[in-house]
Amino acid sequence: MTALAQQPFTRHHGGMLFRAPPEVRDQECCFEISNLDISYGARKVIENTSLRIPHNAVTAIMGPSGCGKSTFLCSLNRLTDLELDCRITGDVIFQKDCGSVKGSPVVLGRQIGMLFQKPNPFPFSIWRNLEFPLRQHGVTDKAVIAQAIEQALTDVGLWAEVKDKLKVSALSLSGGQQQRLCLARALVLKPSVLLMDEPCSALDPISTQKIEALIKELAKRITIVLVTHNIAQARRVADYIALFWHDGSAGRLIEHGRASEVFEAPSSDFARMYFAFE
Ligand SMILES: Nc1ncnc2c1ncn2[C@@H]1O[C@H](COP(=O)(O)OP(=O)(O)OP(=O)(O)O)[C@@H](O)[C@H]1O
Ligand SMILES: [Mg+2]
Repeated sequence: MTALAQQPFTRHHGGMLFRAPPEVRDQECCFEISNLDISYGARKVIENTSLRIPHNAVTAIMGPSGCGKSTFLCSLNRLTDLELDCRITGDVIFQKDCGSVKGSPVVLGRQIGMLFQKPNPFPFSIWRNLEFPLRQHGVTDKAVIAQAIEQALTDVGLWAEVKDKLKVSALSLSGGQQQRLCLARALVLKPSVLLMDEPCSALDPISTQKIEALIKELAKRITIVLVTHNIAQARRVADYIALFWHDGSAGRLIEHGRASEVFEAPSSDFARMYFAFE
């Protein structure tokens, strides 16, 4: 018997989950993912993944490069629909108790904000970057727009820095400011979920600290799914960890649990080895 086979594990929809998943009651569940398989063309990149992501908490998606973390994240707001050769089977159900099962891309666009690894402001003014999504979602009242823009910039700690230059190009801001502007752009629609794909990997430690403080603050009222390679960051901000693994084939979920439990007592050799890289 190998060391791995001696670990306690649960057979999970034919997958390989090395610990019993955290209990997430129906009313606490933001995303219910069942038997998810994702392929690009003939190549499967996520296999047999089932998990419940709790609302108003930070779930960190972790695992080695290429195990499908970004692909998984993009399946939550159906960004994967934009990939012509991407095929998904299984279910991703969003806020079932709110009646938003699966959800149209427009509804998802409003309720689920997204932040990518590299800041990607539109090549417009700071103001227009925030006005654009509001108008796209039907907000036309100028006073409402102005109030929402000030609130979003205040929420990300950028208002004092940019209030006197709202009409300058967003591209003239520093990288850290651009990333906070992109976060403000995601928040201006008051989403209930924020998906973040390595949002700090291009930032200096001070900007990283600001984003992490925002993540913790935001998680009091919205659900955050954060892809990160930074184990120390996951320790600082995550409430739950979902660790994916791959052995050259498709990525699979191998650990899902409360961050304290996963870090203190990883239930697989893969997880122990991965967290030892901190
Ligand atoms: N649009 C695409 N078309 C084809 N294959 C893709 C596409 N996007 C990702 N892949 C493949 O899917 C696999 C998973 O990629 P993904 O970017 O989701 O991994 P990741 O875990 O986010 O990696 P990293 O940590 O390096 O960001 C990789 O083998 C990648 O080459
Ligand atoms: Mg990625």
